[in-house]
Amino acid sequence: MASNIPQESTSFVGRRAELRQLSSELTQHRLITLTGPGGVGKTRIAVRAARAAAARFPDGVRWAPLWPLQGDQLLVATVCDAVGLADHSARTPVAALCEWLADKDLLLVLDSCEHLVAACRDLVGDLLTAAPGVTVLVTSRQPLDLVGEGITEIGPLPCTGDNDALALFTERAGAAAPELRLTDPLNAEAAALICRRLEGIPLALELAGAQLAHRPLAQVAERLGSRLDALDGTGMPWTPRHRTLRTAIGWSHELCAPLERLLWARLSVFRGTFDVGSAAAVCADGPLTPDVVRT
Ligand SMILES: Nc1ncnc2c1ncn2[C@@H]1O[C@H](COP(=O)(O)OP(=O)(O)OP(=O)(O)O)[C@@H](O)[C@H]1O
Ligand SMILES: [Mg+2]
Repeated sequence: MASNIPQESTSFVGRRAELRQLSSELTQHRLITLTGPGGVGKTRIAVRAARAAAARFPDGVRWAPLWPLQGDQLLVATVCDAVGLADHSARTPVAALCEWLADKDLLLVLDSCEHLVAACRDLVGDLLTAAPGVTVLVTSRQPLDLVGEGITEIGPLPCTGDNDALALFTERAGAAAPELRLTDPLNAEAAALICRRLEGIPLALELAGAQLAHRPLAQVAERLGSRLDALDGTGMPWTPRHRTLRTAIGWSHELCAPLERLLWARLSVFRGTFDVGSAAAVCADGPLTPDVVRT
């Protein structure tokens, strides 16, 4: 069975240590969950890790994107689709899926489980028991809390040393403003400041980089300093997930600053209503401090 790992549409930066660690963890655990806040880079790492490991799985890598699901009703159907199972028998879908996978030797990736943690926990538990040759790689802002789950916490890109945060910002800045020379000393200083203020969160760095199509570097840096000031829209090539998130919560592209957008992305973890305390507890990380979330 051929793999269906998503194509990457933008360049990839850094993460060598994480990928090395995952490569060995994928030989030691049957369930690995990449955790970390929204926009930190879990999905991009999962794509790379899955591609690197694909040759070790005779039945390939099967990728199930769960972020479009509104609830758990279509979870099993989505995984069936991902593994190429079209079952028309009278068995329950979970039983059919377990039976289908029982003799397979594959890596199943469940991308974005945080809004379906309980349902994913049940399903993955059943699959791991029924299918000894199946390994599961999960991305989720929260772990599944299953016995035997190997949890790898993904942190932001480093803003010092190799400065992968700056490398990513430079890449995206280059796409938005090709004539801008970030190697000029003043520009280099402003770019480094932006990376530090955004604490190396890839999604926030991409949003800030895209702003350079519309405003000067110094202004982007300055506005990030005064937190929630309005910045212009970006016209950046959003991934389907982040495009959908943005549409779903109806944020105004023109009125949101990068930190606000990061907050909205993280708030999407809540299925229904939430209060300020839970928002601060769940969404505060990196450049979004609990106080910032509360205001
Ligand atoms: N190492 C990287 N190199 C280049 N771009 C990256 C890297 N990591 C993340 N990005 C970009 O940053 C954005 C957020 O990354 P990604 O979607 O992987 O985050 P995530 O942790 O899966 O977020 P979510 O919790 O919302 O699913 C994406 O546009 C992605 O392409
Ligand atoms: Mg993701």
